[in-house]
Amino acid sequence: MSGYHELAEVYEWLISDAKLAPAEFAAAFDDVLGLLPPDAHVLDCSCGTGQLAVGLAGRGMQVVATDASEAMVRRTAELSEEFEASVRTLRADWQELPDHFDDATFDLVFCVGNSLHHAAGATGRVAALESMSRLLRRGGRLVLTSRTWELVRARGSRLDISDRLVRRNGRDAVVVYRWEIAPRWEEEHHIEIAVAQVDATGPVLVRSELLSCWPYRYEELEAELDRVGLRTEISTFDPAAENYTVVASKV
Ligand SMILES: C[S@@+](CC[C@H](N)C(=O)[O-])C[C@H]1O[C@@H](n2cnc3c(N)ncnc32)[C@H](O)[C@@H]1O
Repeated sequence: MSGYHELAEVYEWLISDAKLAPAEFAAAFDDVLGLLPPDAHVLDCSCGTGQLAVGLAGRGMQVVATDASEAMVRRTAELSEEFEASVRTLRADWQELPDHFDDATFDLVFCVGNSLHHAAGATGRVAALESMSRLLRRGGRLVLTSRTWELVRARGSRLDISDRLVRRNGRDAVVVYRWEIAPRWEEEHHIEIAVAQVDATGPVLVRSELLSCWPYRYEELEAELDRVGLRTEISTFDPAAENYTVVASKV
């Protein structure tokens, strides 16, 4: 199970301001989008609440948005409707994608926003990357963004509480991350996330969820991409930076 049932409802409190506006989220990938024809076929295979997919559709691209969470897919469909964007939505785990799409269907596949660590270990991750690779045409690209797990693991288990209120839809919330770091890289790790909405009159409404994840080192990811026929073209990996982006093309 991938989770994100409870969190789907409060997901805006978990994403940065830059990701809230669909056009702005898509613009973060201008460099790679600029290499595509305007009507390119694009898949966002862990679409979350759909801001990226809607932003891409706003540029005239043929967009499919999938996610393992039914609640996330529903939110993506609602956002598409709100923006009158043409996005095809589908609930699908990464490994199920080849059941729904022919090989070489897409010019670009996105797997962004710290999604891949939800694949169960190296086996699950390679199977997920294999699915993404199959769906890309030759020369097509996978865009992947990731936390730098080397840094996260070095910090160990801990509680991170937002140092200011996060305001979304006129409501304030405190966001809490509880990191459960296992002794070994290969083991299942957990992140418990809570969004506590505070009402000025007193009540606090909490939504929380315990998520499983399996961290990976950057070198492992590179080797796994290579194994599924994806060659890294661009990488922003820096061991001292919190996140990185990899663009890999289908050989
Ligand atoms: C941290 S969210 C990122 C969402 C979005 N891409 C963003 O940048 O805001 C991770 C997403 O990955 C999805 N996910 C987790 N496991 C998955 C799987 N096995 N197959 C497809 N999606 C999965 C979750 O449901 C969730 O929507």
